Amino acid sequence: MTTPSKLALVPFVSVDNMMKLVNAIGPAKMIAEIAEYIEADFKRWEKFDKTPRVAAHSDEGVIELMPTSDGESYGFKYVNGHPANMARGFQTVTAFGVLARVDNGYPVLLSEMTILTALRTAATSALVAKYLAPEGSKTMAMIGNGAQCEFQALAFQTVLGIDTVRLYDIDRDATEKAARNLASTGLTIVKCTSPEEAVTGAQIITTCTADKQYATILTDNMVGSGVHINAIGGDCPGKTELHRDILLRSDIFVEYPPQTRVEGEIQQLAPDHAVTEMWRVMTGQAQGRRDARQITLFDSVGFATEDFSALRYIRDQLKDHDTYVELDMLADPDDPRDLFGMVARAAG
Ligand SMILES: NC(=O)c1ccc[n+]([C@@H]2O[C@H](COP(=O)([O-])OP(=O)(O)OC[C@H]3O[C@@H](n4cnc5c(N)ncnc54)[C@H](O)[C@@H]3O)[C@@H](O)[C@H]2O)c1
Repeated sequence: MTTPSKLALVPFVSVDNMMKLVNAIGPAKMIAEIAEYIEADFKRWEKFDKTPRVAAHSDEGVIELMPTSDGESYGFKYVNGHPANMARGFQTVTAFGVLARVDNGYPVLLSEMTILTALRTAATSALVAKYLAPEGSKTMAMIGNGAQCEFQALAFQTVLGIDTVRLYDIDRDATEKAARNLASTGLTIVKCTSPEEAVTGAQIITTCTADKQYATILTDNMVGSGVHINAIGGDCPGKTELHRDILLRSDIFVEYPPQTRVEGEIQQLAPDHAVTEMWRVMTGQAQGRRDARQITLFDSVGFATEDFSALRYIRDQLKDHDTYVELDMLADPDDPRDLFGMVARAAG
């Protein structure tokens, strides 16, 4: 057994270590801090290489690669989305990701991203709502009480100050699970038996369901004026959650139009339908919420820079937290040209 060179070792954050890190920092604080990293990166949007994610579709779901770079660091996430998985005992979404140096191409972090995706998606949703939700929003309807649900609720409590979450899922067990997990957060939890009941009195409506079809989680008559909709589950071609009429009544905000036009709710609209990019709102170049009666819609699909921000955050935390192991991941011979010799010498 030869000892790997220092350069060969890449910090790896396993699921176990990610859970330790989340619990050491506290999930709410971690979401708020990731939101700050995401906001900082949205504010330097023009620095990033951007491309719609590369998606491999199948009848069961999708596997995607999400790369981006700010010129100094490069990051990508591998993520799947398989709506049928839950019934088969698998996660709908699993992910891992890499951060690397641009100057020499060496990876500097490999991390689980199933948990991190839930944290960053919640952080993004709440961050965007800071710019779009009606002033003083206190109640959120949460339709779809699966893996992302509690993270969303915590994010809106911490970043936005909501105090009530109205839960609804077609599967009652999911609602019971979410209510149990949120019981100690200080949020008032209302378990609802229909989506209509869930949206009653809510200033914010989050849809977070998983179905590989054009679903209608919200119909037009369920959405009153002044509401902010945080639509997360429509994130693939042929997979949407909102009735088209709602889109026509809303001002629509997106992450990166070339990706959202293919994957988001707006795939139901003309390709030139007006949308506003969130980075423009965050940098003051475009208006967020204009008035109290406007319906704002965040057509969220999840963009590579959000994962890049989350990986950047994790890398920074490893300075203070011992929640990683070093992986012998890069072949790094003493003489960079002598790769063969390194292999041969390892034979002993
Ligand atoms: N936009 C993003 O950045 C982003 C990030 C992560 C996940 N997602 C998407 O969010 C969705 C939810 O992800 P998850 O990991 O929580 O999935 P999940 O499978 O764990 O949970 C989905 C829940 O939706 C419920 N549901 C399905 N149809 C419903 C309906 N008609 N009404 C009410 N509830 C319904 C299911 O019973 C389940 O509890 C997925 O579609 C996923 O692809 C988006």
